Amino acid sequence: MRRVLVTGATGTVGNHVVSQLHEEAVHVRAGVRDVSRARDRFEHDIECVHFDFYKPETWGRAFEDVDALFLVRPPSMSRVGRHLAPAIDAAARVGVAHVVYLSVLGAEKNPLLPHHRVEDHLRTADVAYTFLRASFFMQNLAGVHRADIVERDELFVPAGDGQTSFVDARDIAAVGVAALVESGHENRAYDVTGPEALSYHEVANIFSAALDRDIEYVRPGAIEFAIRMRRRVPMPLVVVMLGIYTTARLGLAKRVTTDAERVLGRPPRTMREFVEDNVDVFRRD
Ligand SMILES: NC(=O)c1ccc[n+]([C@@H]2O[C@H](COP(=O)([O-])OP(=O)(O)OC[C@H]3O[C@@H](n4cnc5c(N)ncnc54)[C@H](OP(=O)(O)O)[C@@H]3O)[C@@H](O)[C@H]2O)c1
Repeated sequence: MRRVLVTGATGTVGNHVVSQLHEEAVHVRAGVRDVSRARDRFEHDIECVHFDFYKPETWGRAFEDVDALFLVRPPSMSRVGRHLAPAIDAAARVGVAHVVYLSVLGAEKNPLLPHHRVEDHLRTADVAYTFLRASFFMQNLAGVHRADIVERDELFVPAGDGQTSFVDARDIAAVGVAALVESGHENRAYDVTGPEALSYHEVANIFSAALDRDIEYVRPGAIEFAIRMRRRVPMPLVVVMLGIYTTARLGLAKRVTTDAERVLGRPPRTMREFVEDNVDVFRRD
């Protein structure tokens, strides 16, 4: 039976990769930092092993007898040459044949991004690769932005009138699972976006209709945004978020592709489907 190691298994995309792979004829191994917590979370036949990019002593056991790897760079990791690249080399050395890597839309054009460096490394490593260059996750709205929606009926994002080709993490996972279980996806890159580009005005309207209460798109300035987000996430992440929303404001995040539909044989989920599937997440208690 094919054996796949999923890194970032407790994360936004990885957790769907684990559950979707579990439905295939695949032995799923979740590489996690806290094994006992992961065992409580996953189905009993999902193997949970200790894996930490910062602890090379955990790599050998995690990579043992693995055919393919789903690779997620932890968002806080900037020095990929020091931690992620050696892990890729270690996996290749023990026979991991294929790495499906969660990258970001536009990574190939921006050498400053850590994803660019990971892609470069994978291209020269002794493995086949598949890059999932994902657009902005719809799930971000249920993460760091949820409190604004639930407590203030606000979408609090400094993206002006710019559009974004939001993608549902469940669909990114599905493209990743296809790449892991089917043949023909080796040494390819997919630009994984949702089916439409939306402004945050349009997103607010979708939320208002689905939640049956008015959600207003507030367009904070960068400083106002940074002050509020600083209470929720570390400053380096606030800076990253400002960069992402500036890109959207400038109209550089709106590219829609058909890659997900071509791989999945169905269109990716719309924002409306995402919000309707998650109404409880955004409901006021
Ligand atoms: N958010 C977006 O819109 C977006 C768009 C395109 C690309 N991306 C990229 O997607 C990646 C993040 O994916 P995600 O959002 O699915 O992840 P996530 O929800 O942020 O979760 C991070 C995962 O990394 C694991 N992790 C953290 N530190 C680790 C370490 N030292 N060793 C091993 N695992 C570690 C965490 O496990 P624990 O349970 O142990 O903490 C968790 O499973 C980033 O590279 C990001 O740049 C994001």
